[in-house]
Amino acid sequence: MQSSTTTRPGNAELQFQRGHRIPVQHQEKPGFQSDMNPKPVSTHIPTEDGGYQRYKAAGKLKDKRAIITGGDSGIGRAIAILFAMEGASSLIVYLPEEEKDAEETKKKVKEHGSECHLLATDIRKKENCRTVVEVALRKLGGIDILVNNAAYQNMIHDIVGLTEEQWERTFDTNIHPFFYLSKYAVPHLKDGSSIINCSSVNHYIGRPDLLDYTATKGAIVAFTRALSNQKIHNGIRVNCVCPGPIWTPLIPSTMDTKAMEQFSNVPMGRPGQPSEVATCFVFLASQDSSYISGQCLHPNGGVVVGA
Ligand SMILES: NC(=O)c1ccc[n+]([C@@H]2O[C@H](COP(=O)([O-])OP(=O)(O)OC[C@H]3O[C@@H](n4cnc5c(N)ncnc54)[C@H](O)[C@@H]3O)[C@@H](O)[C@H]2O)c1
Repeated sequence: MQSSTTTRPGNAELQFQRGHRIPVQHQEKPGFQSDMNPKPVSTHIPTEDGGYQRYKAAGKLKDKRAIITGGDSGIGRAIAILFAMEGASSLIVYLPEEEKDAEETKKKVKEHGSECHLLATDIRKKENCRTVVEVALRKLGGIDILVNNAAYQNMIHDIVGLTEEQWERTFDTNIHPFFYLSKYAVPHLKDGSSIINCSSVNHYIGRPDLLDYTATKGAIVAFTRALSNQKIHNGIRVNCVCPGPIWTPLIPSTMDTKAMEQFSNVPMGRPGQPSEVATCFVFLASQDSSYISGQCLHPNGGVVVGA
């Protein structure tokens, strides 16, 4: 029976149907959500009967204050919106060229009655990471949740063609800021605070055409476990989310045609939506996960991975 909150699939929502294929498309890096077709889904999740419904909030993050890197688009945008639905305010951090997407995220967060502050800065520089924490303290009045989500990837099929510059850029974006932001934020986190890091299924499957990216995603899992073991005694939980193929600007801006054609090749037979990853972040940020730290969640379309 169809529930009253369920909407039958329309255009974008067909993306929740098994066998759905994203039309191949390409964009320049870093990629804009506004230019994607179909648009990624940030606020709805599928229902058992083949429909979809708006995420149901329950005040799980009431009055919490979050830093979300890469919060302008994709998974970060969905996190900012779901956090807002649950009562949290946020500071979102992104590259300056992504202002257009960031403004849209801010608009959507504010529709849910929460504060959203914008900070365009390149977190490859450690002094900018320090500024992120200072701005969060000033604008939000404190920090309860740190979401390390920003990333860079560029497909290169052979290690010989992977430049030293790219290797360093990937590590400078994908892991060094996780250290700096955590280091600068931790003195301000209290009992009950959370750090949530975004890794990838690629760490578990060893994706050959993303060697540098995959290596950083492995480092993130190890960083999560070690920092959890260090900080759990202070009541700070540190966890990780490892998405599979999720329809975000990262995909049309970094994947070649063949990779895009194979994008839905997971047991569920469809790409995931940012909303379906953001629910994991809500869970890990809230007291629903009070007994979980040092762990990984795997919103990956059913790919079975170890640990
Ligand atoms: N989309 C997928 O299929 C997929 C799969 C596995 C993991 N992930 C992970 O999800 C996370 C979010 O990515 P997404 O898919 O939502 O893509 P996205 O392009 O929407 O988000 C990436 C964000 O990183 C930010 N960023 C990149 N370099 C930065 C820098 N130097 N300074 C500040 N911000 C910077 C960008 O502003 C951008 O918003 C990433 O960690 C990514 O590795 C994505």
